[in-house]
Amino acid sequence: MSSITKRLTPYRIGLLGLGAVGASLVQLLQQQQAELNAQAGRVLQLIAVAARDPQKARPISLAGLDWHDNAVELAARPDLDLVVELIGGENGTALDVARARLAQGQDLVTANKAMLALHAAELARLAETNGAQLYYEAAIAGAIPIVKALREGLLAGRIQAISGILNGTCNYILTEMTRTGRTFAEVLAEAQALGYAEADPSMDVDGGDTAHKLCLLEALAFGRQPDLRRLRVAGIRHLSPAVIAAAEAQGYAIKLIGQVVRDARVQPFVEPCLVKKDRPLGRVAEAYNAIEVTSRYAGASFFEGRGAGGEPTAVAVLADIIDAARQRHSPLFSLPFAQLERAPQPSETGPSYALFLRLIVDDSPGVIAELSALFARNAVSLATLQQAPLPEGARASAELQIITHAADQLQHEATLDSLSASPLVLQAPAVLRIIEG
Ligand code: HSE
Repeated sequence: MSSITKRLTPYRIGLLGLGAVGASLVQLLQQQQAELNAQAGRVLQLIAVAARDPQKARPISLAGLDWHDNAVELAARPDLDLVVELIGGENGTALDVARARLAQGQDLVTANKAMLALHAAELARLAETNGAQLYYEAAIAGAIPIVKALREGLLAGRIQAISGILNGTCNYILTEMTRTGRTFAEVLAEAQALGYAEADPSMDVDGGDTAHKLCLLEALAFGRQPDLRRLRVAGIRHLSPAVIAAAEAQGYAIKLIGQVVRDARVQPFVEPCLVKKDRPLGRVAEAYNAIEVTSRYAGASFFEGRGAGGEPTAVAVLADIIDAARQRHSPLFSLPFAQLERAPQPSETGPSYALFLRLIVDDSPGVIAELSALFARNAVSLATLQQAPLPEGARASAELQIITHAADQLQHEATLDSLSASPLVLQAPAVLRIIEG
């Protein structure tokens, strides 16, 4: 033990969950002990762990740690300064533990965005009433320190909008679909085999995970109570290699974007969008996450980093452990919960936006003229329209790639209704929002 470490008082930690993040956390705590102790101003002592299977082969040493089969039992130990919850799940053990620790005025570190998004009010009140702290840097975008960046930095600049790629699994799948031209199902199967995607991928690929994170960012950035019902959420299962290739031909990448703006009447959304390939969000590849924060007084700030994976997420957990050891305190979403706005259900569609459409249409004289007229009748102006070659044998039909000028959602919806009713359009059109990025 170094002379500095000898002078530091111990800070006793219990860890719940030994998956990829939990195992990396144990390893990083062991490997960087002296540096972390100096950063924390305490000797960070991992005392006990709880996980389901004590026999499971793990690339870490658990020697000297108390083993608990029961996480709730571990969390009830009176000799711990801090519990780190890496079990996950919106209810069940994670929630039982969070309630119990906070009710006793004990600090908790968690990476559990689903639990926070769904139970924020109860957990924030428990923490405030009992003088406990709840830390959650690892819950949003892994190693990107976005909670700190907002809470300790950009909030002062009056944030206007947040747009993010918040799910690494989706970004990996979309990157691979673009690179190889393979289908969603093929790339998902490969991602599962490589351990990048969960056996049940729905929370990731249907947009739920991004929605949880966006909801927490909205609370932090705009002082609103988290409310998942405010969000419009769509995932990436329906995207075909053909629509990805068509977007690429027009200079765009397709990314699963979560976006929220200051005006509470405007509905936050999670949906696949087109972003210019050379813009910061359009360039984010593989399993990376990225977040663009636009604020009135600081302009645009862009963050990119590893949003998932054992070590990157464990780094965010460690940052919280250090904050907890140093007793750095802040309300869960920067303001006491009672001061957060209970935002109304959104009633506005927000600023106008452009759409990208891929249409398979009848290939005969006058079709483009008729379709242009259909857009014009709905007051939607076309920016570009391009006919793309279809393979041999598809001669009776043509692929059109259309980019509109910005219009409001009602105009776009009316146009889409007209397109669905048109006998010239042979398949349900692929339609995606274009964002600036
Ligand atoms: N499953 C998430 C992702 C990481 O793929 O980004 C944890 O939120």
